[in-house]
Amino acid sequence: MTQASDPSPEKTFSQAIEDRRATPSFLPEPVPENDLKKILAAGLSAPSAYNLQPWRFVVVREAEQRARLRQAAMQQPKVEEAPVVIVACADLEGWRNGDLDEIIRLAQQHGYGDEARYASMRKNIAKFFGSTPGAAGGLAPDFAVWANRQTMIAFTTMMWMAEVLGYDTAPMEGFYEDQVKATLGIAAHVRVVALLAVGHRKGEDKRFAGRFAMQRTVFAEKWGNPIP
Ligand SMILES: Cc1cc2nc3c(=O)[nH]c(=O)nc-3n(C[C@H](O)[C@H](O)[C@H](O)COP(=O)(O)O)c2cc1C
Repeated sequence: MTQASDPSPEKTFSQAIEDRRATPSFLPEPVPENDLKKILAAGLSAPSAYNLQPWRFVVVREAEQRARLRQAAMQQPKVEEAPVVIVACADLEGWRNGDLDEIIRLAQQHGYGDEARYASMRKNIAKFFGSTPGAAGGLAPDFAVWANRQTMIAFTTMMWMAEVLGYDTAPMEGFYEDQVKATLGIAAHVRVVALLAVGHRKGEDKRFAGRFAMQRTVFAEKWGNPIP
């Protein structure tokens, strides 16, 4: 991996949104370390419920490991071609395995609140996770859905930062979770959420395939009322 940084100026976010395509094919050109760190740090600054940050990411760069990951990802060539594949995961047990203590330590370090606040964070989070998913009065949603919700925000923030820095990206859900876990040594209680290939595209990007009109998917005040 090279240490040189990409000298090209960052794109505006609007430009990145306009330019982005799910890139089908990548060049082997590496992503410099400092750009990769910017991409990862952007994702880690995403919001999450209770600031619990249940996401975990495995960064796959070694050629042999990308080749193995490709097998687990339905043979998609871009998994092997792209110099970096970020595997986004959600740790459903992180909160009880130290994350709760760590977010309280961080809150203390940042002067985020007082002891009463930390005590209520601890109580509320334990209550949230201790309740039965779907049960009457229970607060907790389906944990896999909950963790997926948080993780996809961090994942998407990484995607946009990569695009702003001038890289091409490909989000993927086409993989066998058990095979990805076996390949990367991921524990059973961790869910694999999505893969993100980052690099420079080979050849032309895919054509824009269009999007629904806003009136089809955005409603005003009540479901079904098209937004004017
Ligand atoms: C969560 C998610 C999973 C996806 N999984 C795959 C995938 O496994 N393989 C693939 O070729 N494209 C995948 N895509 C890309 C979509 O097919 C693509 O985003 C969509 O067709 C719209 O094209 P565009 O992103 O270029 O506008 C995925 C996209 C998302 C957001």
